[in-house]
Amino acid sequence: MSAQPEQLAREKQLAADAALRWVRDGMVLGLGSGSTAACFIVALGKAVREQGLRVQGTATSRASEKLALEAGIPLLEPRRGLRFDLTVDGADELDAHLRLVKGGGGALLREKVLATASDYLLIVADSSKAVAQLGRFPLPLEVVPFALPWVLDAVAALGGAPVLRMSKEAPAEPVKSDQENLLVDCHFEVIAEPEQLVAQLQNIPGIVEQGLFLGLARAAVVAKGESVQVLRP
Ligand code: 5RP
Repeated sequence: MSAQPEQLAREKQLAADAALRWVRDGMVLGLGSGSTAACFIVALGKAVREQGLRVQGTATSRASEKLALEAGIPLLEPRRGLRFDLTVDGADELDAHLRLVKGGGGALLREKVLATASDYLLIVADSSKAVAQLGRFPLPLEVVPFALPWVLDAVAALGGAPVLRMSKEAPAEPVKSDQENLLVDCHFEVIAEPEQLVAQLQNIPGIVEQGLFLGLARAAVVAKGESVQVLRP
């Protein structure tokens, strides 16, 4: 039976609190997006304010940037040479090899930029995110608006049943990413060969980024019930 929303919320908090164990004084951090990463940012801010922890960070979305500022975490602007000791981020799905689907919150591009510029990517997740096979969660793409019709055709030809993400608040409006691009959710149901799919998607002009994160995560903190498990690839 799948866990109830309150139980998943509790697991997100447990995973985020456990992730603090990876943080050291003086670190430069990547701050992820989504509800589990938000729990981490709030917990990190508390450690900054109450224990004098000195860290700086860059956020993977405007929403996380705002949260980090409110939490009292000093922020760094993107610049050449900037590397992150640790990035803590959520995931929509993760498999036993720590291959990830990300982008449910629409922040996949900045998330991948920071993950790639990080020495260590730590995933924080509730128990619903750990799956035997990727693909049940629709794979997000960030797409340049001009290219949308051709991207939809190309993804449909790959069997991805693409759906343009629409705003919940204004149903006639598409969701825009922080870069003002569109988001397309691809319903593959099963992604048997993630590496092959990445190569195919990278070949489609107009896809700025796709939500498969392969070979990037070094560890995942997954909470189930009241216990926390650390997974490694
Ligand atoms: C946003 C993401 C998030 O990390 C992902 O959607 C998980 O979110 P949550 O922790 O709310 O379940 O990739 O683009």
